Amino acid sequence: MSLNVVILAAGKGTRMRSKLPKVLHKIAQKPLVEHVIETAQQLDPTKIIVVYGHGGDILPKTLCELDVTWVEQTEQLGTGHAVEQALPYCDSDASILVLYGDVPLTQLQTLEGLVKITLESGNVGLLTAVLDDPSGYGRIVRDSFGKVERIVEQKDASSIELQITETNTGIVSARKKDLNKWLTKLENNNAQGEFYLTDIIELAVADNLEVVTSNAAHLWEVAGINNKIQLADLERKYQLLVAEDLLTQGVTLADPNRIDVRGSLTVGQDVSVDVNCVFEGNCSLGNEVSIGPNCVIMNSSLADGVNVKANSIIENSIIGQNCDIGPFARIRPDTELAENVKIGNFVEIKKANIAQGSKVNHLSYVGDTIMGSNVNIGAGTITCNYDGANKHLTEIGNDVFVGSDSQLVAPVKIGDGATIGAGSTITKEVPESELSLSRSKQTMVKGWQRPVKKQK
Ligand code: UD1
Ligand code: MG
Repeated sequence: MSLNVVILAAGKGTRMRSKLPKVLHKIAQKPLVEHVIETAQQLDPTKIIVVYGHGGDILPKTLCELDVTWVEQTEQLGTGHAVEQALPYCDSDASILVLYGDVPLTQLQTLEGLVKITLESGNVGLLTAVLDDPSGYGRIVRDSFGKVERIVEQKDASSIELQITETNTGIVSARKKDLNKWLTKLENNNAQGEFYLTDIIELAVADNLEVVTSNAAHLWEVAGINNKIQLADLERKYQLLVAEDLLTQGVTLADPNRIDVRGSLTVGQDVSVDVNCVFEGNCSLGNEVSIGPNCVIMNSSLADGVNVKANSIIENSIIGQNCDIGPFARIRPDTELAENVKIGNFVEIKKANIAQGSKVNHLSYVGDTIMGSNVNIGAGTITCNYDGANKHLTEIGNDVFVGSDSQLVAPVKIGDGATIGAGSTITKEVPESELSLSRSKQTMVKGWQRPVKKQK
């Protein structure tokens, strides 16, 4: 038997109060349904089929890079009808696991257990959850021996059935050949006029199959999202799980409740992260990296010993060993810093390659630049890389000293060992090892007096 996963995602999600189909809302910057698809992929199924409906083609278009089969359910006639739409696309000998696009945090181990039930014995696997407040959910009805008999929906339940606290999570596994048979038998003469997937339980029992239940280890694993409150809740839960994973790997977090990872973060030994840091895309931190409070790091790799101080932003860049960055630094895309580079406060670096030991310590803009080693860029230096139409390159050699408040008007080259006097506007090539400056001579106006305030 092969494994196929069917993900139901046709609902509109009215309570999200959004134009976007519900399952495209995001946790950790990834659409809810993509979380479900990624977990499904880890089960190694031969097919993943996503049933979509509301919002037309937005779903398959937005997620066109994912390797899944999209099936449209033009009218939402119920969960049973939704699964029925997917069946023609399933393998004939498949064991089918039904998941939901708006239940994003179900863990792999939980699903593995469920899938095994059907793969090994052909029985129905049903994931249930015992809730203090079961209202709204389908209830699991058992016989006097404790065997599952059927599921009754809240709106169809008797007052005695409403007392049952074991609920249906909706997540279920069964063979395709059985589902084929059962789903065509479904009727919609119930309180909601829908074709309920839950009605297959009674049909399975009638066919002498066992309905084997397992309990979700945590309630958040089976929590669905219907509104922005639940979305925010599960975002926090997700982030806490990531934080706990980082702590387990030995990272020091100043506060596990105040770190957000929106993508993947790999870490070395003895990494520490202060409060309110955000990591996006693929980031990696080497050994003994320290990140100060309020930093945002996107798609970047930081080598061993890098120290990022408070309120710094690093995007699409490679930071070499023992670099010191911030506070209040902004490293923009395509920057590559070699070892021991220092980027200080209120410095913006863009598309620059800076060799080892160089320093840009205060209030500078360095963009479209190739800089040698052991350069010192004085406070307030600007590479004037843009002429209003095109970007130009600034090339700075090794051991250059640029005096404060200088402008390097690109394209321009500065030779090794050159010194530029403070306040210079450099427009021509600067020769090696010489002092160049461009400023008018200082004059004195004798007897000049400061203006005084006029009397009214
Ligand atoms: C369903 C279960 C209920 C369970 C609950 C758990 C049924 C009949 N009831 O109820 O026992 O306790 O989930 O949350 O299955 N969907 C489609 N197409 C449709 C209908 C639904 O894709 O035609 C999708 C929805 O987008 C949603 C999911 O299936 O993601 C569940 O549908 P919903 O109508 O919300 O079912 P519930 O009433 O919550
Ligand atoms: Mg629901």
